[in-house]
Amino acid sequence: MITLPLLASLVLVQDTVPLAVIPQPVNLTPGTGMFTLTAQTVIWTDRVSARLGHQLAELLEPATGFPLDVQVGGTRTGSRISLRRDTSLKRLGLEGYRLEVSPTRVLIRAPELAGVFYGIQTLRQLLPPEIFRDAAFDGVRWTVPAVTVEDWPRFPWRGGHLDVCRHFMPKEFVKKYIDLLALHKMNSFHWHLTEDQGWRIEITKYPRLTDVGAWRAQTLVGPYTEDSTTWVFDGERHGGYYTQDDIREIVAYAKERFVTVVPEIEMPGHSQAAIAAYPWLGNTGDSVPVLGRWGVSANILKPSDSTIAFYQDVLTEVLQLFPGPFIHVGGDEALKDQWKASPWVQARIKELGLANEEEMQSWFIRQMDAWLAARGRRLVGWDEILEGGLAPGATVMSWRGTEGGIAAARAGHDVVMAPGSHTYFDHYQSQNRAAEPLAIGGFTPLEKAYAFDPVPAELEPQYRRHILGAQGQVWTEYIKGPKQVEYMAYPRMTALAEVLWTPPAQKNYEDFVGRLRTHLRRLDILDVNYRPLGP
Ligand code: ACM
Repeated sequence: MITLPLLASLVLVQDTVPLAVIPQPVNLTPGTGMFTLTAQTVIWTDRVSARLGHQLAELLEPATGFPLDVQVGGTRTGSRISLRRDTSLKRLGLEGYRLEVSPTRVLIRAPELAGVFYGIQTLRQLLPPEIFRDAAFDGVRWTVPAVTVEDWPRFPWRGGHLDVCRHFMPKEFVKKYIDLLALHKMNSFHWHLTEDQGWRIEITKYPRLTDVGAWRAQTLVGPYTEDSTTWVFDGERHGGYYTQDDIREIVAYAKERFVTVVPEIEMPGHSQAAIAAYPWLGNTGDSVPVLGRWGVSANILKPSDSTIAFYQDVLTEVLQLFPGPFIHVGGDEALKDQWKASPWVQARIKELGLANEEEMQSWFIRQMDAWLAARGRRLVGWDEILEGGLAPGATVMSWRGTEGGIAAARAGHDVVMAPGSHTYFDHYQSQNRAAEPLAIGGFTPLEKAYAFDPVPAELEPQYRRHILGAQGQVWTEYIKGPKQVEYMAYPRMTALAEVLWTPPAQKNYEDFVGRLRTHLRRLDILDVNYRPLGP
């Protein structure tokens, strides 16, 4: 019989170690007692999980000071954390896992290694927040409450985007951004690498893209308005780019964290930095500067065979660097005025038998779609690629609301939802704008980000499988560096992580905020400059 004092102490254990996992697991059943990690704990793995065993040891060592033994194969005895692939758990899917914690051992099993990785992320969040410290932290008992978790994601595309063009972000920060995505079980990093205001990826065949295109002479100060007489510039050169070795490092870093990097090479709009580097890519032949202001540029690529060949050369190098299935070609906000004014483009439209400038853009994107498909890759573009006809293999990223995504799904295309209304984390988080850093506009508080459902209610059930998931956008016109990226992305990215992972019936905003209060202690320790809770 359990005596009253024992019961009270059990309750106390639960109180002192709140279960605060984000995203909320699908099934989580608390057990009795707890596991205590000590210097004697062994990390046991099967052969295929050995690398993850070493990764776990590296995650646990700084804060605990324990150089934990990693034992691959052999018998398991004593206090241990076991990791293994278990194909009998196929029902948990490509990314699901089962985590069992008892007083004697922690066991993480999954049908695929991604699931083992996600089991480890849950384990990290079941330990005291101090586990995220970088150096030995005395006086903490490294306990994990007994629990059984069975967990898998709602969507396969759980993305975070980062614009490194409007403001260049250092390589070390890009890795931190990826680390944070992975901690929240996000698996896709959309790297926006080319823009009017800067070209950020080294292309060896065309060195001027970075020699010229990666640098702008000056940047607009304050909010953008269309009235150019109000523009004031800072007079400061800004720029930077990633070498191909930097990119290989980042892609490998992401892969170790089960994050796929989706590079974006914009075309035919948002390309002024490329035109600045190689004016023949443009319609006028005029030399233009790398753009120093925000808003949309009139400069758009000339839809010539040489432009297509140039961009396919660029993509040839991109494919060597990025092994993932998806290549993003932009396609948004391409103003057609230069095409309308150009006799050459008008003749081209006739020659190709196209009806108008929208079909001209569609033709351009189709060249890329066919070229990528022939190389085993998939094109993804912003929803403007629907205009003038969607390329046969295209996946649509729906940003101007969810309508484009709905139309694409009904036409049998895959979709990533990224509507400005709920997933643009460059928008204000508060209605008290005076108390916030200058932002592009909008109002997307944490609760609204949490309320998002990537599957629109009006989308018929037979098309819903085309919704791959969703993505949070961080455009950086008004975001000058890493600390401000963190302020805008967090905690909203944690809300999106739960949107993308947890079954809708189990979502609960009050409960989320309760867990988030504990989770913010982890983000504090990780030096994440999140926006504090509050109106
Ligand atoms: C976009 O925000 N122009 C995709």
